[in-house]
Amino acid sequence: MNYQEAYEKLEKYGQTHVLQYYEELDGAQKEELLAQIAQTDFDVVSLCKKKETLNPRGKIEPIGVMELPEIEANKETYTKIGLDAIKAGKVGAVLLAGGMGTRLGSDAPKGVYNIGLTKDVFIFQRLIENLMDVVDQAGAWVPLYVMTSDKNHDATVSFFKEKNYFGYNADYVTFFMQDMAPACDYEGKVYLEAKHKMSTSPNGNGGWFLSMMKWGVTDKIRQAGVEWLNVFAVDNVLQRIADPCFVGATIAKDCAVGAKVVAKTAPDEKVGAMCLEDGRPSIVEYYDMTPELMEAKTKDGKPAYHFGVILNYLFRVKDLEEIVARKLPLHIVEKKIPCLDEKGEPVKPEEPNGYKFEQLVLDMIHELDSCLPYEVVRNKEFAPIKNKTGIDSVESARELCKENGIEL
Ligand code: UTP
Repeated sequence: MNYQEAYEKLEKYGQTHVLQYYEELDGAQKEELLAQIAQTDFDVVSLCKKKETLNPRGKIEPIGVMELPEIEANKETYTKIGLDAIKAGKVGAVLLAGGMGTRLGSDAPKGVYNIGLTKDVFIFQRLIENLMDVVDQAGAWVPLYVMTSDKNHDATVSFFKEKNYFGYNADYVTFFMQDMAPACDYEGKVYLEAKHKMSTSPNGNGGWFLSMMKWGVTDKIRQAGVEWLNVFAVDNVLQRIADPCFVGATIAKDCAVGAKVVAKTAPDEKVGAMCLEDGRPSIVEYYDMTPELMEAKTKDGKPAYHFGVILNYLFRVKDLEEIVARKLPLHIVEKKIPCLDEKGEPVKPEEPNGYKFEQLVLDMIHELDSCLPYEVVRNKEFAPIKNKTGIDSVESARELCKENGIEL
């Protein structure tokens, strides 16, 4: 794309300020900026003008959940089915590690954060240790696909190498990168993070399967005969990955996806709750939980939306291939976006100063025909690290690790 073409594209979207420092740039920087303009989807940015009406919700109703007593009663059967699938190489794991972890406040990838007290215990290490339990139980390696972003790819890959993959078999680890989206101010003007570069941030965790396709990872999956992918977040240091009983239950129930859920601590807890939306499986996010939904009861008097998702899903690959072309809803999130001030100097804001745009993995559930919400014991499997202190923090996760006999 040459200057004129770039200008015309920007003009269409009211973004010509992106070229304001063009004359000051050297040749390589000019090229870099023009290439970024060519690649950027500015349609996304115009959506912030319709923020309030962007994602209308359908009719929300309760969904059946496989609760702990039912799981306990069928544990042996489900575990055998799951282990057989893992041994046959049909189950892979996808670690979503492309986020910026801004709430934790470290510039490094979240997984390199050390939660140890008397020794090093990195978040990535905890996840690998958890996965190793299953590898040992099944006597087979589980292929692990790690999604990174432009902002943390190199640091993530070198960390795994430097730590020798924490004992995991490197032949079974594949890295791939997600896409980025432009970030803008409250008026929808794209920020510059340097005179030759627009501010971007990872485009959410919803594009993971598309990114796998883009990087040729899905070909690898097909060749290897992987039929199920357990997608999980980087920040839950207690979660079970490729959990045989969960895998077996989802296969036994012939569902397109399984979703691990925990009993919510309060009706207004900030987790998405499993539900049916217009008759299809879905997740109602905490900010969409109306007082009526919070108070709603099932026929037997239990809270109707009592189970929250923990970002641990088991997707059937063939169903993902069918839905991949569909557009997921776009979420507009307020964030602190590094940018240039009026003098053209880079600044890191202390407070949110604009929007970033994300698609979310939870919206994939609604595209699928069947889902098995599968309850897990909260204190054993849910220790997310979002913040340094307080709720869902390094502190609370350390307490939970201690409760579960994990030395830190
Ligand atoms: P969060 O929304 O909690 O993580 O993502 P974040 O964006 O990294 O954190 P904050 O809000 O800035 O503090 C949940 C999971 O999804 C991944 C994260 O790495 C985490 O595992 N994720 C999130 C991605 O892989 N890509 C994204 O673009 C966003």
